[in-house]
Amino acid sequence: MKAREIRPGILWMGAIDWERRLFDELIPLPEGTSYNAYFLQGSEKTALIDTADPAKSDALMAQLESVPRLDYLIIQHVEQDHSGSATLVLAKYPEVQVIASPKAVPMIEDHLGIPASQIQAMADGDTLSLGNWTLEFIHAPWVHWPETMLTYLREEKVLFTCDFFGSHLATDALFSEDGSRVCEPAKRYYAEIMMPFANLIKGHLRRLADYEIEIIGPSHGPAHNRPQWILDAYEHWAHDAPKNLVVIPYTSMHDSTSLMVDYLIEALIDRDVHVHSFHMSKTDLGEYAIHLVDAATVVFGTPTVLVGPHPSIVLASYLTAALRPKLRNAAVIGSFGWASKAAEKTKDLCGGLQVDWMEPVFTKGLPKRETYEALDRLADEIATRHRGLETGA
Ligand code: FEO
Repeated sequence: MKAREIRPGILWMGAIDWERRLFDELIPLPEGTSYNAYFLQGSEKTALIDTADPAKSDALMAQLESVPRLDYLIIQHVEQDHSGSATLVLAKYPEVQVIASPKAVPMIEDHLGIPASQIQAMADGDTLSLGNWTLEFIHAPWVHWPETMLTYLREEKVLFTCDFFGSHLATDALFSEDGSRVCEPAKRYYAEIMMPFANLIKGHLRRLADYEIEIIGPSHGPAHNRPQWILDAYEHWAHDAPKNLVVIPYTSMHDSTSLMVDYLIEALIDRDVHVHSFHMSKTDLGEYAIHLVDAATVVFGTPTVLVGPHPSIVLASYLTAALRPKLRNAAVIGSFGWASKAAEKTKDLCGGLQVDWMEPVFTKGLPKRETYEALDRLADEIATRHRGLETGA
């Protein structure tokens, strides 16, 4: 694919990865992704911001065929889907100066084998002249690694953000326009990659409020030519209180737990509580993560396997805690054959989750009248705790 013009002198480069369906051997990519690099043609100097995943190096290197001289390679983030073609770029342009944050320097040595002597570290707020253009570097740790920095092209009011404000979306659209097509993939991306760092993101958003921004160029998904919608969306996702929504990650082996989950869903609906269940042996983890952005309560539903929760609920518990959502309440429901510590072990797996745990509901074998009565009490408790929360279907 050819390079495409973002603005005169600013080119999108990189690759659209239409086929990729899994990232980090964990994150589903139902709509593929892209690896965006940006080439800047200043009046005196040229710069390339980020590169491409090694699997798509050929596309980037073909685009660079028409670039005779590259002065700067800016590595905003060392994760290989952006930096993984850097060594090829260095091989093509032996005189190029690598630019990165100070924290990135040893990481670039470790991950890419590029010696520190070839890297110029930029402090927060440092600038670099391309002649007519000035690049300002803004340190933004944890979006998504500790070394990440953003690059602001002052004269054009263009902000390059790497993972920040990105979306895993393969599309021929260069720009997100009003966001209607990109909002859902961007929310999925926020949930999977950014949500664990929401408190830091609040600080980054406050800082960016001082910048005039006409275009945001992330390194996944379309660029934002009307960036207010993605800035507003991030404000909501990071700041808003959780909504009147219960998520139920569950699995079932012989239907006892699924009967309980079905009953609880109806009991919650009867009490005007929104609910979304996820069969963890079948669900797309990203769908679950998206709903965690807004949910106030999680209820894990698990049969008992070797005294503890089913392995798919072990994964769900671990991921729920790791993503650090805004959840306020949690419970475990489920079943067992002869004995169980599934509730206690599920709670232990959620160690870092700052929630108030409600009474678990478990049944030996099939659920009975007292099981359903206990589920009614749980639904009552959740409805009481959700009183006053905004709708969150
Ligand atoms: Fe898209 Fe953190 O790399």
